[in-house]
Amino acid sequence: MIKRLLKRILVVFILLVVLWIATQYWFAEPARLLPANKHTGFDVIAHRGGRGIAPENTLHAFETSDKLGVDVLEMDIHLTKDDQLAVIHDATLDRTTNGNGEVKDYSLRELQKYDAAYHYSPDPAYNNSRDSSIYSDLADNEELFPLRGKGIRIPGLQDVFRRFPQKRMVIEIKPNRIDIVEPFCRMIKDFQKEDHLIIGSFHEEVLVHFRMVCPGVATSAFSKEATRFVLFDKVFLAGMISPDYIALQIPPDIKTKLVGNRPIVSVVTRSLMKAARGKELIVQVWTVNETDQMKEMIDIGVNGIMTDYPDRLLNLLGR
Ligand code: G3P
Ligand code: CA
Repeated sequence: MIKRLLKRILVVFILLVVLWIATQYWFAEPARLLPANKHTGFDVIAHRGGRGIAPENTLHAFETSDKLGVDVLEMDIHLTKDDQLAVIHDATLDRTTNGNGEVKDYSLRELQKYDAAYHYSPDPAYNNSRDSSIYSDLADNEELFPLRGKGIRIPGLQDVFRRFPQKRMVIEIKPNRIDIVEPFCRMIKDFQKEDHLIIGSFHEEVLVHFRMVCPGVATSAFSKEATRFVLFDKVFLAGMISPDYIALQIPPDIKTKLVGNRPIVSVVTRSLMKAARGKELIVQVWTVNETDQMKEMIDIGVNGIMTDYPDRLLNLLGR
């Protein structure tokens, strides 16, 4: 008797799950179409402006990549003490400049006293090393650090917008604080950059707030959304998702130090590309620096590659 009852409960439960999945599929919507996902064609994206070929997140890097013919500039922003937007990756000055301390404790003008090319080296072994002691005895080697003292500064976002009014950009909001959203949205509108941008952040609350305040501007999926899409695709259920975003910005695979930093799971696959296309999503992969992996990603059909070495990718494409 109890056995029969349990069986019935199980059957009802399975039926309810199937019904729920079917309903989700039925009502699921693709991403809305904005210039960023209407755009067809493959994009070379200079990660942090092309941090392998110039000091990261500086006007010098953006200009270098722009001259090479890069399609999109990727950069990171932080909020300063005086509510300005500084283009810098880390929350602190230490790794990339000759200053130290937290970006949020300086005004933009104060930040701009520091040399943003101080730790840049064309030699990858020394470029913006977190452990600067490895080259302390080489600190004055001009060949290793050729752009020191040339007046390369941390740019304000307005400097970048002013210099590149028509350029497409991927901008990542780095800090986990929603008070960066209003000044950022205001600046996008002031410079009429709405149609040129994709805004990303790892932080759910920040990106949800951005979508509310700046609804006309394209965003990428935050970590939880991207993980959900990738996992649902693995079990053939990505069709259930109605994305609030227009782009997946994801790594090609997941690596772990446990097995010598080798990939353990493929993230970007042909199946994922098909599911993304079905939802009007574009897929941009980060950060791909080796030519073989660039070829593999192009072959799979990604819409863009973020790379520290845009010169390699442009060469590969014969551009
Ligand atoms: O947009 C995602 C990608 O830029 C993440 O890498 O350089 O910000 O650590 P990063
Ligand atoms: Ca970034």
